[in-house]
Amino acid sequence: MTIKKVCVVGSGTMGNGITQVVAQAGYETTMVDVKQEFVDKGMNAVKASLGKFVERGKIGQGDMDKALANIRTSTDLKQAAKDADYVIEAVFERADIKLPVFQQLEEICPKNTILASNTSGIPIGLLASATKRPDKVIGMHFFSPVPMMRGLEVVKSLLTSEETVKVSLDFGKSIGKETVVVKDSPGFITNRIIPLVMNEGAKLLEENLASMEDIDKIVRLSFNWPMGPFELCDLVGIDVGVDLLEGIYQQTGWERYKPAPLLKRMVEIGYLGRKVGKGFYPLFGTK
Ligand SMILES: NC(=O)c1ccc[n+]([C@@H]2O[C@H](COP(=O)([O-])OP(=O)(O)OC[C@H]3O[C@@H](n4cnc5c(N)ncnc54)[C@H](O)[C@@H]3O)[C@@H](O)[C@H]2O)c1
Repeated sequence: MTIKKVCVVGSGTMGNGITQVVAQAGYETTMVDVKQEFVDKGMNAVKASLGKFVERGKIGQGDMDKALANIRTSTDLKQAAKDADYVIEAVFERADIKLPVFQQLEEICPKNTILASNTSGIPIGLLASATKRPDKVIGMHFFSPVPMMRGLEVVKSLLTSEETVKVSLDFGKSIGKETVVVKDSPGFITNRIIPLVMNEGAKLLEENLASMEDIDKIVRLSFNWPMGPFELCDLVGIDVGVDLLEGIYQQTGWERYKPAPLLKRMVEIGYLGRKVGKGFYPLFGTK
């Protein structure tokens, strides 16, 4: 199967990042969202990101112009997806929003179109159940910021065909990503690990074993990680961390994924991390 046209559904943080890398790789790319203002915001983010790459000398102005020329935008899913070979859905992380999108894509897209989701944890099999082509539904779990992060989890449901996996792996490679295939299970690989780091950090602080800064410092220096658990919480979003933990806990009952009470308190008081300008830093420290 040859992929020429790609449709990205959702122009938020992930959707615009995915649109950028797909367009840079030379695919005709249509980014669609529900309102023109969201699409415009997504396009501005793509332009700003490409501009930074040019400024830093990573790509030339000609590359930026070519990538932008490959992008179309739309607020009409039918028009955007009707002749797509590959669709990547990146709308809100809610099954009640994603499922209707997959139902519509089933109606709109040609029979051979592969329907991928960038979900962080909604079962791919569930999304596939909204279609009549479960063998062509797959998870393509990108990481933020998409143009910078090389990893890509390719999530295979019980019904995803080997052909769909193969096409998706080739596609991932063609847009510059390093892929791994993972079975459709709660949290996949990455979201099984990251929320545990956040949770354990919060538990250490609850137990008053060391200061927040010291916990971050020893983790950074000992593992050569770019950040410790609290810096990570503030970057990812404490609400996002709690949602990931609760999602896995509800699906599996595994105690280790029960969110630490401190994380829940932080969400309740609106200390969600960098995106709102307040999180673990500065509440428990001075940084
Ligand atoms: N942000 C991350 O770090 C990250 C990382 C990996 C995966 N994800 C996953 O990617 C997906 C998108 O996350 P995000 O951070 O980009 O969210 P976001 O809130 O930044 O963007 C979501 C976009 O989807 C649009 N949208 C909602 N319903 C739509 C519909 N029916 N049709 C078209 N567009 C619609 C919204 O208007 C919004 O612009 C989620 O499933 C999330 O779990 C996010």
